[in-house]
Amino acid sequence: MGERILIGVAWPYADGPLHLGHIAGAYLPADIFARYHRTKGNEVLMVSGSDMHGTPITIKAEREGKKPSEIATQYHQQFLDSWQKLGISFDLFTDTDTANHAEVSQDIFLALLNKGYIYKATVSQPFCPNCRRFLTDRYIEGTCPYCYSSGARGDQCDDCGKPINAAELIDPKCSFCGATPRFKDSAHFFLRLSAFRDRLLDWVKQQTHWRQNVLNFTISYLEGGLKDRAITRDISWGIPVPVDGFEGKCLYVWFEAVIGYLSAAKEWAKSSGDEEKWRCFWQDNTTKVYNFIGKDNIIFHTVIWPAMLMGYGNLNLPYDVPSNEFLTIEGRKLSTSRNWAVWLPDYLSRYAPDPLRYFLSINMPETGDTDFSWREFLRRNNNELVATYGNLVHRVLTFTYRSFNGCVPTHSNYDVLCKYMDDLSVDISVDMYKLNLSIDESTANMIEDTKEDFRSVGMNLSKCQFKQAIMWAMQLAQETNQYLDKKSPWKIIKEDRQAAADSLYVALYVISCLKTILYPFLPFSSQRLHRFLGFKGSIEDGGWQLQSPPPGQGLSPPQPLFSKLDEGLIEEETSRLGQDHC
Ligand code: MF3
Ligand code: ZN
Repeated sequence: MGERILIGVAWPYADGPLHLGHIAGAYLPADIFARYHRTKGNEVLMVSGSDMHGTPITIKAEREGKKPSEIATQYHQQFLDSWQKLGISFDLFTDTDTANHAEVSQDIFLALLNKGYIYKATVSQPFCPNCRRFLTDRYIEGTCPYCYSSGARGDQCDDCGKPINAAELIDPKCSFCGATPRFKDSAHFFLRLSAFRDRLLDWVKQQTHWRQNVLNFTISYLEGGLKDRAITRDISWGIPVPVDGFEGKCLYVWFEAVIGYLSAAKEWAKSSGDEEKWRCFWQDNTTKVYNFIGKDNIIFHTVIWPAMLMGYGNLNLPYDVPSNEFLTIEGRKLSTSRNWAVWLPDYLSRYAPDPLRYFLSINMPETGDTDFSWREFLRRNNNELVATYGNLVHRVLTFTYRSFNGCVPTHSNYDVLCKYMDDLSVDISVDMYKLNLSIDESTANMIEDTKEDFRSVGMNLSKCQFKQAIMWAMQLAQETNQYLDKKSPWKIIKEDRQAAADSLYVALYVISCLKTILYPFLPFSSQRLHRFLGFKGSIEDGGWQLQSPPPGQGLSPPQPLFSKLDEGLIEEETSRLGQDHC
């Protein structure tokens, strides 16, 4: 029986274009993971959507003199386009402004209210006397009460990653006009987080498979105690609080956004024609739920959302929350307001998707921050993707195509080899000596290493160790180049056609392995390679397997998988950074 995997990816605010930080942080690792599991034949549901509500959207709308819905819809469309171009393969990418999402969110709110996990209290809220409105979340800035960094907002501090109540900010100011707020009473609902602290701590301590940073950060947060949090706001753009007397107030954007993981599964089930299909993902406890997020979202996914799920009951808690660290750009912290960012739509309008996926995979901020620079991007593209992998594939395919009538040649020892090549459970080097197989040692090693890497990549992928996985694959490509340099089929073909065929056959076997193990990372080029090798259908349908190309199989006319990039782009691209952005 295969596994069932629910992948929920952080919901991006629809208040601006996506940038490389988003991709490295959550969307690319989620997609790699989904593609791996689909190819394995596991049942995968990958969902997310645009986070349409809250002050990020209303502030942007006010600045541009538009309605919040206009802004959100515009970016939602752009996100869909970006996913398609970058190959982020959501089963459903919806948004939080649907009737379904409002219904599911209000249902959870009311259920928690009925169980006493949500309660009402009147609190004094910051109010700007100038702008004549309550200052919620991003409308208010001040000093963080935990780490004392300035520039914390009324929802969270980006420096220490802790959620904040607006009223706790030290020296608060209206982020619109800079005025010091007064305080005014307002009735709100609170989530009784304090009631879940011990249960959460017990649960989190059992999650020893989580990444160290996620686990430690969560445990120390919980050990510091857990305060109840307001989950409604004085704001009119959002999901209305479903209680009389709360007209004009909405659910806090974070409270409802995390519910999106559930509402999206329900929406997906409805549109698939089987309305109940969401249940196996959410209620069958053999399903593993993964949430891919950036590190600024950890507490919401390891504490607040699990508390809501515990309170509601009968729904799966996350199995893993593989949160990534940050991506810096040219050595500096990414800043959207200063335009110190590489915007995804810009990238995609100028370059192919796989080189970016490659760079961000092999440089993924899994255990610490990593940097994106255009110079490194160019170097990795030209020296690794083109020179190591692309060149290996191209020289083998073009030479084989030309020399063997466009077909996969036969290996002189094919009957012996085919028994070993695709069977991961047998070890060729042992039998080679025992049975005196006439395979030379370097060929035996090449085949062994291919099998070994195939296994390792799968193992690393299943543990969300993406960087290590792609490093194995690239190392295999490198080793195959060395093998071919040694065997030189292009030189020996004149004297010994069969010897040339033998080494090319082994190379085709490794390349066929590479197209599978690199597929989660480089789906576009892997699928092309699948065709060049003469395979039909999709890699995903072919399955996660070592597949030596059958001798005689017709190859498709090969073309280069990647192209070299010109040095000139470094200057051109870096000069865009920090410039005014429209
Ligand atoms: N919109 C939030 C952000 O960009 C993330 C929401 S993740 C979710 O930081 F889980 F709440 F959906
Ligand atoms: Zn103001």
